[in-house]
Amino acid sequence: MASPNREVLPLISLLFSLFCLIETNNGESIVSTVNEGLEAQREFDYFLLSLQWPGTVCRRTRHCCASNGCCRRSNAPAGFTIHGLWSNYNDGTWPACCSGPSFDIKEISPLLEGLQKYWPSLSCSSSSTRHGKKGLFWAHEVEKHGTCSSSVTRDEYSYFLTTINLYLKYNFTEILTEAGYPPSNSERYPLGGIISAIQIAVGATPTLVCSHGAVEELHVCFYKDFKPRDCIIDSSSHENMVASSSCPRYVSLPEHTPVGLGGVISNPWLDQVEAI
Ligand SMILES: *[C@@H]1O[C@H](CO)[C@@H](O)[C@H](O)[C@H]1NC(C)=O
Repeated sequence: MASPNREVLPLISLLFSLFCLIETNNGESIVSTVNEGLEAQREFDYFLLSLQWPGTVCRRTRHCCASNGCCRRSNAPAGFTIHGLWSNYNDGTWPACCSGPSFDIKEISPLLEGLQKYWPSLSCSSSSTRHGKKGLFWAHEVEKHGTCSSSVTRDEYSYFLTTINLYLKYNFTEILTEAGYPPSNSERYPLGGIISAIQIAVGATPTLVCSHGAVEELHVCFYKDFKPRDCIIDSSSHENMVASSSCPRYVSLPEHTPVGLGGVISNPWLDQVEAI
């Protein structure tokens, strides 16, 4: 049932993202030249808003640190949080690590409270940035993805503000709860039901990413003017579920319990910002 394209395209995408990783791990490299030289110049086609489900992601937490939202006891994330706003091509690949200024936390100081609440890092490891350094999750997202949508999202401040506004426009946690799919450690929900609840609320088809049968990510797609669109444009696909192939027919939406290991981490983001 899978056409050759379905198998090849994700592979190409994976290669692009690996290029970015290679580049960011090695700092200056030939790969970065290739990537920036070819990919940065080609205008992207649409946005993918990627949201993470802390109840699933935080199960992998092995240790806690100030910057890890999984460990937060006050203001613990109760539903989807932002992973990033990614630029994509219609052919299923995406650009990464385009040219643009480096992340500067000062640019987004008016947004820090919102970022901390809605866009927490859900791990302790710092993410590699385009410049080969280890940095904040936010630096990684804007340098890897935001730079490739700068024709629309412009500068760093505007990238983060645009993403937060888009996230706040649709409360997907609420949409699912109201459709009968609240976070639960015991229930399993039909994948098709979750997808149609979002389809009805947004007017476009999302995709889901699962890990061990639990929803880990929700991807919702938008045209460049932020009108919703289907995440998959392959008209030959007979059912939308093909697009969420990492998910079984019944999925869970586990509740998130802060993973704090003793001691109250009061204001993790202050430590994080002060450490910059
Ligand atoms: C989304 O809805 C949930 C459940 O109604 C609520 O707890 C949460 O605060 C809302 N999130 C945002 C960002 O407004």
